Amino acid sequence: MMRLGTAPAEKPRKAGLPRHVAIIMDGNGRWARSRGLPRAEGHRRGVQSIRDVVRHATAIGIEWLTVFGFSSENWSRPADEVSELMGLLKLFIRHDLNELTRGNVRVRVIGGRDNLSGDIAALLIEAEQKTAGNTGLNLVIAFNYGSRDEIARATRAIAGEVAAGRLGAEEITVDLVATRLDTAGMPDPDLIIRTSGEQRLSNFLLWQSAYAEFVFVPDYWPDFDGAAFDRAIAEYLGRERRFGGLPQKGEAV
Ligand code: IPE
Ligand code: IPE
Ligand code: MG
Repeated sequence: MMRLGTAPAEKPRKAGLPRHVAIIMDGNGRWARSRGLPRAEGHRRGVQSIRDVVRHATAIGIEWLTVFGFSSENWSRPADEVSELMGLLKLFIRHDLNELTRGNVRVRVIGGRDNLSGDIAALLIEAEQKTAGNTGLNLVIAFNYGSRDEIARATRAIAGEVAAGRLGAEEITVDLVATRLDTAGMPDPDLIIRTSGEQRLSNFLLWQSAYAEFVFVPDYWPDFDGAAFDRAIAEYLGRERRFGGLPQKGEAV
């Protein structure tokens, strides 16, 4: 079986599966345009892909799945598209929360909360609280998320603690910074998948992806399914991860 490189501090992984898969769900608009449909229809079909992928990730035993649903830069889209995306998040949580709860899925949300409407903020808290005791798949919804915003918010929090005398500047280490990010307590993503053929991060998990493997797939997000997920994982399994070290003894260099 293919060896997967692991950082010294990381525990070995069952069957080499990535522990944390993060997905930049891109291409809803182009999917719709290629069918002569409004962009909103692409977003609606994209929600179905989320359901399929959550089910599939659960079935194959992925521990953490992060999906990028709305970026801190997506506010610059036309108001009707922004409100469509907000409406879909509400619909998804209202409609799917019971099924997620029954499926033992634990929901977490990363991203800024301050500029969200009260009803959305309340739904996000409800989803997190209602599923907090679940022990199956950890589904992380990145909503109103941007890494630069996340790092700026973490930096403000740390600076506030230093100014208040609760933290010494010399205590600011890589591990300390990680505990102030929205992803505190979560493992870094092992595999980041982006659909639609674009090959960029678009402000997604910049800190956390330091040693992630990237798989870019041509499919638009509404066409992405369990089989496409498996192909991305197969590609990941063929990669050699080094974490700055050297290949293990006996391996080709
Ligand atoms: C991804 O699809 C969903 C969001 C970014 C909210 P897009 O809406 O970006 O679709 P394209 O990239 O325009 O095709
Ligand atoms: C990234 O996609 C954000 C989400 C998938 C939610 P975008 O479509 O917003 O990214 P750019 O603008 O093409 O870089
Ligand atoms: Mg896009």
